[in-house]
Amino acid sequence: MKILAIETSCDETAVSIISAEGTTVRATFAVLGDALLSQMEKHQPYGGVYPNLAKREHQNNIVPMLEKALTEAILLKPGSTSVTLETLSTLQGDDLRAALRAFIETHEIPDIDAVAVTYGPGLEPALWVGITVAETLAKAWHKQLVPINHMEGHVLSSLIKNGVIEQTAFPVLALLISGGHTELVLMRDWLTYTLIGQTLDDAVGEAFDKVARMLGLPYPGGPQISKLAEQSRTKGAVPTIKLPRPMLHTTTCDFSFSGLKTAVLYTLRNFPELTDDIREEIAHEFEDAVTDVLVKKTERALEATGAKTLVVGGGVSANKEIRRRLQAELGERAAVAIPDHHLTTDNAVMIGVAAFYRILLGRVPETDGLKAYGTLPLSSD
Ligand code: KG4
Ligand code: ZN
Repeated sequence: MKILAIETSCDETAVSIISAEGTTVRATFAVLGDALLSQMEKHQPYGGVYPNLAKREHQNNIVPMLEKALTEAILLKPGSTSVTLETLSTLQGDDLRAALRAFIETHEIPDIDAVAVTYGPGLEPALWVGITVAETLAKAWHKQLVPINHMEGHVLSSLIKNGVIEQTAFPVLALLISGGHTELVLMRDWLTYTLIGQTLDDAVGEAFDKVARMLGLPYPGGPQISKLAEQSRTKGAVPTIKLPRPMLHTTTCDFSFSGLKTAVLYTLRNFPELTDDIREEIAHEFEDAVTDVLVKKTERALEATGAKTLVVGGGVSANKEIRRRLQAELGERAAVAIPDHHLTTDNAVMIGVAAFYRILLGRVPETDGLKAYGTLPLSSD
C-alpha cells in the first residue's frame, strides 16, 4: 500500500510517500517521495521553537512540500478534482486555503491508499496545520485518514533495517530521547505500550540545548555540544570539572536533568572568562554525565522487563557517543536497534511506517473530531 504522511509537530514541515508491504512477521518499506523543510534558522533568534512562528511557516510551506513529495514519487498528474467549501472548512488561514484548493483542483487524485498525520505530542498550533491539511486531502481524495502519535513513529521506524522490519523479538524496550521527551517505554507486542520511566523535569535534548546556550552556542545545541565533546576526546583530554549524574543510583527508571543543567550554570561562575578550552571540557563532561545516566537507566529497565530488543529513537539518538556506548555496554544484553541518522530526527517517513502498522492491525484511532493533542501519551488503544 502507498501512504502519504504529514508531520508538523515541531519545526519541520515534512511530507513523505512510502510504500509498505507485508505482515508483522516481515514488512518492507520504500520511500517513494520525501520532502522536508527545517525552520531551524528562523527559530534560532528565539533560542527554541516559537509555536506561532512554527504554525505560520508550516502554513506557508506545506503545499510546496506536498507537491515536492508527490512529484518525486511520480504520483502528481495534472488534471482536475473538485473541491467544495465544506471540504476546506477546517483549514486555518486564507493563503493556505487558497493554495491547497488550487493544488487539489489542478491535479488528479493520486494513487495512494491513505493519508497519515501526526496529531501529537508536539506544539498544538503547529500540529493543527498538518491535521487540517490531512483532513482536507483525505476528504477531497476519498482516502482513509490515519492519525499517528509522533513517538510511535520514532519507536517503529527505529526497527527498520535496510528497508525491512522482521523477526522483532518482543518485549521491545524503547529509549525515546528528544527535545521534548525522555522516556523508557516497553512494547510487549505490536502497538502495546507501558511507560517504564520518564524525566521528572527537563527532556535530555532540552538539557543539551540549554547548556549549549550557557556556553554561547547556537540552537539547537545538541550537535554543537557533541562536536566540542568529540574534539576534547580526540585530544585524549580527561575532564577535571565534575558534574553530577542525577538519579544514577535510584531504583526507578526515571530521569532528571534540571540539576545537571544548574550544575553547569554554577560551574561557569567559577570562571571569569569562558575560553574555548573550558567550553570543550564542559561539553565533554556534560555529555559523559548524560550518557552515564541514559546507559544505566536503560540497563536497569532491560533487567526489570527482560526486554530482548532495545530501540532508540528521537533527535538525541543522533548523538554518536550515546549511540556508541548504548551499543557497547548493552549490546550483549539485547539486540540494539538505532535508526539511520536521517531517521533519528523528525521526519514524515516514520509517520507513514506507524500508519502502516495501525492499518495492518485494524487499530486506526478515531478520526471524528480529531484534535491536536500536545501531550498525547503513547497508548495501547
Ligand atoms: O526528535 P527531535 O528532532 O525533535 C523533537 O524534540 O521532537 O529532537 C531534537 C533534539 C534537540 O534538542 C537537539 O539539540 C537534539 O535533539 N539533538 C542532539 C543531537 N542532534 C540533535 N542532542 C545531542 N547530540 C546530538 N548529536
Ligand atoms: Zn521527534
